[in-house]
Amino acid sequence: MQYLTHRGERIPLIGFGTYRFGSSEQSAELKTLGYGFDKFGMTLLDTAEMYGNGLSEQILGSIINEYDRRSLFIVDKILPSNAQKGLYRECCQKSLERLGTDYIDLYLLHWKSGVDMQDMVDNMECLVQSGLIRHWGVSNFDTHEMEKLFSCKNGSNCFCNQILYNISQRGAEYDLIPWCREHDVLIIAYSPLCNSYEARTAVANDELVKTIADKEQKTPESLMLSFVVRNKDIVTIFKTSSISHLVWNMQNVFVPISESDMSALAKRYAPPSKKYPLEKI
Ligand SMILES: NC(=O)c1ccc[n+]([C@@H]2O[C@H](COP(=O)([O-])OP(=O)(O)OC[C@H]3O[C@@H](n4cnc5c(N)ncnc54)[C@H](OP(=O)(O)O)[C@@H]3O)[C@@H](O)[C@H]2O)c1
Repeated sequence: MQYLTHRGERIPLIGFGTYRFGSSEQSAELKTLGYGFDKFGMTLLDTAEMYGNGLSEQILGSIINEYDRRSLFIVDKILPSNAQKGLYRECCQKSLERLGTDYIDLYLLHWKSGVDMQDMVDNMECLVQSGLIRHWGVSNFDTHEMEKLFSCKNGSNCFCNQILYNISQRGAEYDLIPWCREHDVLIIAYSPLCNSYEARTAVANDELVKTIADKEQKTPESLMLSFVVRNKDIVTIFKTSSISHLVWNMQNVFVPISESDMSALAKRYAPPSKKYPLEKI
């Protein structure tokens, strides 16, 4: 594994997503998680109270106690509908119970919806002070929403913005990623494998992608991950319930993509030339 350091935290560049955990065979999911920890150092785990109505957190809870808690970095999320009702502490405590741990490393507002920004910051800061979470952040915030957040008292304590970003959805490169870099907000990129079967296979079956991946002894999926982590300051999280997929995905993932291959990829998967609203899943 390779790591970055953000605001004093050492964080793996690649972590596990757990969206739809519980919809496959749970023993396969647990084996894959264990394999990811042990063989690849994938100790960043991303979950949310929304995923399977708490089931994803419960599945993580059934394995994390086998590991030194301090070696894990757990990211969890509160739903905007609960944030709007002021249920930050209640929701966080319920998530902790399902996870079977006594703190969350990074707690995010899942998306903005109609949540009051200053109220969110105040509640997140309270959770930090009471030791239930170590850091807080947001997800699916576009640039103007980050600006509004940073105008709040303590808003600049926002640790990260978790966003959709992958080789075929590069809109965030236009101004959101530069803004976050400038303001020391970590980007965690979700859906690096394009989320859906159709979108992923369109990239994985692209002859250009296959040729570059072959040359660099990667699989198309590991090339897709290399694309996201290439700058070494963006963390990414992918989901798999399959050990063979996990192994394919991590194959030579940290071997850099050469400049000439990046130029060829940029002709097919062009960076944005103007601002588009942030895409979300
Ligand atoms: N903050 C947010 O709003 C938000 C939104 C979406 C996602 N997320 C987080 O980001 C994580 C990752 O995003 P994601 O789950 O949407 O999408 P993703 O990681 O881009 O893709 C996951 C899909 O790819 C499949 N897959 C993985 N490796 C494969 C391989 N080598 N060959 C073929 N298929 C492969 C997985 O199926 P198998 O299990 O069969 O491998 C799964 O269906 C989520 O799990 C979640 O934790 C956050």
